Amino acid sequence: MELIKTNDYQEMSRVAADIIIQKVKQSKQFTLGLATGSTPEGLYGNLIEDQKQNATSYRHVTTFNLDEYVGMKRSDPNSYHYYMKTQLFDSIDIPVSQIHLPKGDATDLGQECLCYEELIQANGGIDLQVLGIGQNGHIGFNEPGTSLHSKTHVVELAESTREANARFFPSIEEVPTQAITMGISTIVQSKQILLLVSGNKKEQALKRLLQGKISEEFPASILNQHENVTIIADKEALSGVL
Ligand code: F6R
Repeated sequence: MELIKTNDYQEMSRVAADIIIQKVKQSKQFTLGLATGSTPEGLYGNLIEDQKQNATSYRHVTTFNLDEYVGMKRSDPNSYHYYMKTQLFDSIDIPVSQIHLPKGDATDLGQECLCYEELIQANGGIDLQVLGIGQNGHIGFNEPGTSLHSKTHVVELAESTREANARFFPSIEEVPTQAITMGISTIVQSKQILLLVSGNKKEQALKRLLQGKISEEFPASILNQHENVTIIADKEALSGVL
C-alpha cells in the first residue's frame, strides 16, 4: 500500500487527478470506477479543468459508480446520478452510453444488482477505482459487518452514515435508508485503487486502516490485502498517524 501525503484537500485532489489523467491518456480503453460524496469533488473539478486546458479525451473511457440510493429518481438532486452528471459527466466528452451507475429506482433491485455486477465483469473489470472512506470504515456503502466476499447488493444504511449524509438533504428523515452498492469483493477486484482521505473527521478511520488488521467490522481494512492501492491523504486526515 502506497501512502501519498499532501498538505491539504486541494493538493490531494490535484495529485489524484494527475494519476487518473496519465492513465486515461496512456490507455486505448480504460474503465474507471467512481465515487460520490464530498471527497472526490475537487478531483472531478481538476479533471474538468484539465480537459478545458489540455483537451484530455474520455471517449475511450467507461465508468462504473460505486453506489446509488434506493428509491431515488435519477433526476433528484440528491441522487448520485445527478451528482455525477453535474460534478463531472456534463463537462467532459465521455459518451453517455459508457457511463454506468446502479439504478436505485429499478423495480427489481435483486435483478439490478446481478446485472450491474455482470456488466462490470463483461467490461473486463475496473482498471482504476476511486474510493472515499466513511468514518466507520465503509467503502462504497459497505457498512461494518458486510461480508468481505460480497458482490453488488442492496444495503441498509447505518444510522451514522445517514447522519453524515444528512448535510445534503433538507432533513435526516429524507435521507434514504437503503442503497445499492458494489460489494467488497467487487471493489477489490479492481486492478488499481485510489483512496482519497481528507479532514479531521477521517483521522481515526485512516489510523485504523493503516494498522493493517483485516476485519469485517472495518470494511476498508480489506484494502490491506490488495496489491495496488494508493492512499492520498491530507495533513488533517493524517494527524492521528504522523
Ligand atoms: C460514495 C461512497 C462513500 C463515500 C464515503 C465518504 O459513493 O462510496 O463510501 O466515499 O461515505 O463520503 P464523503 O466523501 O462525503 O466524506
